[in-house]
Amino acid sequence: MSTTVWLITGANRGLGLELTIQLLATNPANEIIATCRNPADADELHRLQKLANERIHIVPLDVSSEQSMRGSVQYVSDVLGERGIDYLYNNAAINPAFDSPFDFDYAQLLDVLQTNLGAPALLAELYYPFLLRGTKKTIVNVTTGLASIGLDCGDKCTSYSISKCALNMLTYKQAKTRPDFTCICMDPGWVKTALGGEGAVLETTESAAGILRVIARLTPADSGKFWRYNGTHHPW
Ligand SMILES: NC(=O)c1ccc[n+]([C@@H]2O[C@H](COP(=O)([O-])OP(=O)(O)OC[C@H]3O[C@@H](n4cnc5c(N)ncnc54)[C@H](OP(=O)(O)O)[C@@H]3O)[C@@H](O)[C@H]2O)c1
Repeated sequence: MSTTVWLITGANRGLGLELTIQLLATNPANEIIATCRNPADADELHRLQKLANERIHIVPLDVSSEQSMRGSVQYVSDVLGERGIDYLYNNAAINPAFDSPFDFDYAQLLDVLQTNLGAPALLAELYYPFLLRGTKKTIVNVTTGLASIGLDCGDKCTSYSISKCALNMLTYKQAKTRPDFTCICMDPGWVKTALGGEGAVLETTESAAGILRVIARLTPADSGKFWRYNGTHHPW
């Protein structure tokens, strides 16, 4: 049986884990390369692997490390051989501070840019040959409503918002470069995870199910757009 191959970063918890769970549960053709920085601690992924053995591959990938990102390609090649990747799902991200434009930690700003922008950019370049061999040729860059200037969200989470705003531009550039690909920004909504924090309104189950519904209907004509989990769009 031919499979639909997904590579997900940060698949060990939060939304990345929930997407992995739903992908395995909803379609036996889905095959997941579930990446995380500490596979030895990824208990939930190992539990899923026992249930869905050859449909999930746990690959070490620390998206803050160029060496780890480059090294992951060999792991993935060992798993896939000449097969391609259908969906590159850039999910892993950090939001370490509630900072503002005149009160932020410079080193932390650079860390956030490296993880939230540099990593999705480099991973798309590294996995481009795999995407070319895939059928869906889709890149999902997970962003946030905080990255929308049009939504006028104010000064909060400055470093995080800057990084995701730049990620949105990267997505636009990817879409323009490859009109035959589908490259989108996806806002999962405000979700009850470690990153979403207290007060978040959505369960991971609802957000992930919505995201997968949107992705299932995507065509290249939807590329370069700023999607929300519920199928609507944000202004840039
Ligand atoms: N939750 C929300 O309300 C919300 C809203 C808008 C956008 N988002 C976006 O949704 C995505 C998922 O967020 P979440 O809410 O699921 O966050 P989360 O629960 O905090 O999970 C973050 C994931 O990213 C991984 N990660 C962080 N740094 C990494 C690194 N250097 N290398 C590899 N993995 C790394 C974490 O792995 P470790 O376990 O190793 O730390 C974890 O798996 C992010 O892109 C986030 O910006 C979330």
